[in-house]
Amino acid sequence: MAAYASRSITLSQPPLLSFGPGCAAGCPDELTKHGLRRVLLLTTASVAPLAKPLVEGLVAHGIVVTTITEVPAEPGIKDFERILLEARKFIPDGVVGFGDGNVLDIAKLVAALHDRAEPVQNFFGVGLLPKRRTFLVCLPTTAGTGSEVSPNAFLLDETELLKKSVNSPWLVPDAAFVDPLFTLSVPPAITAATGLDALVHCIEAYANRFAHPMVDVYALEGIRLISSNLLQAVNNGIDVPARTAVALGSLYGGMCHGAVNTGAVHALAYPLASEFQIAQELSNALILSPVLRFNLSAAPERYAQIARALGVKRLESDLATAEAGIAKLEELCDACGIRRNLATYDIPESAIPRLAAAAMKATRLLKNNPRDVTLVDAETLYSQAFLA
Ligand SMILES: [Fe+2]
Repeated sequence: MAAYASRSITLSQPPLLSFGPGCAAGCPDELTKHGLRRVLLLTTASVAPLAKPLVEGLVAHGIVVTTITEVPAEPGIKDFERILLEARKFIPDGVVGFGDGNVLDIAKLVAALHDRAEPVQNFFGVGLLPKRRTFLVCLPTTAGTGSEVSPNAFLLDETELLKKSVNSPWLVPDAAFVDPLFTLSVPPAITAATGLDALVHCIEAYANRFAHPMVDVYALEGIRLISSNLLQAVNNGIDVPARTAVALGSLYGGMCHGAVNTGAVHALAYPLASEFQIAQELSNALILSPVLRFNLSAAPERYAQIARALGVKRLESDLATAEAGIAKLEELCDACGIRRNLATYDIPESAIPRLAAAAMKATRLLKNNPRDVTLVDAETLYSQAFLA
């Protein structure tokens, strides 16, 4: 990986990126500045009350607001099409996503596709979406997927039981407001799962075949911020400094997404989420340590740096340091109350060949992984996740 700094890299970020407790108050002004008159707010019933000041602010600026709260967890293509029909009736000139990563992904796709005739399936893949014409703002209420700054949006293809993604610079929002105060009421289990997902984004970006110094800075700092604050955020949800640190780490994880992206942890996690309805964020934590142990030999120096960012002291070798880092991650998962054994989620071991075959389809992620993963490797890694 020594020559990696000589490669060029392009980062696409929202033209306006606002971060900090209370920053969402600036959102109505931003939408007004862009002359918007009809804003579609996508959210869920559980967080809609948090959006009340935002809606009032928009209305006070003379903006007509329609709210859709029916964004389900782990939305599929059919869910998206239903929401798109509602959006088309309203004809928005601006779309605001307010919620978790699922909500933000749906908002991104609605903004891009409500004025196009083609089905979303036409755009699954990289760089297939030619343009977005509708202004798009994202406000995450979890920390998180980093979707507010990423060019990705995911949908479950119900027929294939596979998570598919649209990846396009046009899905990077025009503005993102990352306000950690929205995360104060997130329950401990969701705080843990989403925080670990964000941590994995940073880890998989740093130990990645396409790693780059411009992304490394975000990745390492994201690892440090999340690992040193997540447990406090889980145990004391109203701790604003801890929530703020985790939200910033999550944002940094999102910044890693477009240019470098994730690897085998996410590739093996998606089938768990798709087939067994485990939240995608949680599914990463279940397969994390088997995959990292598998990867270690391919990039010991990188995993040693990750371990250092996790707070591990340097040991006699990179490998030893890296192994201590994985043990630290396992401790963090356990302390956050994550049950890592797949059997505890009623997943039968007989599903392993099917899960492994599905994971091998995620070639867009597996190609990033520091070590090649074969079908047999994937089966072994799932087996190990039954021993945690
Ligand atoms: Fe993720």
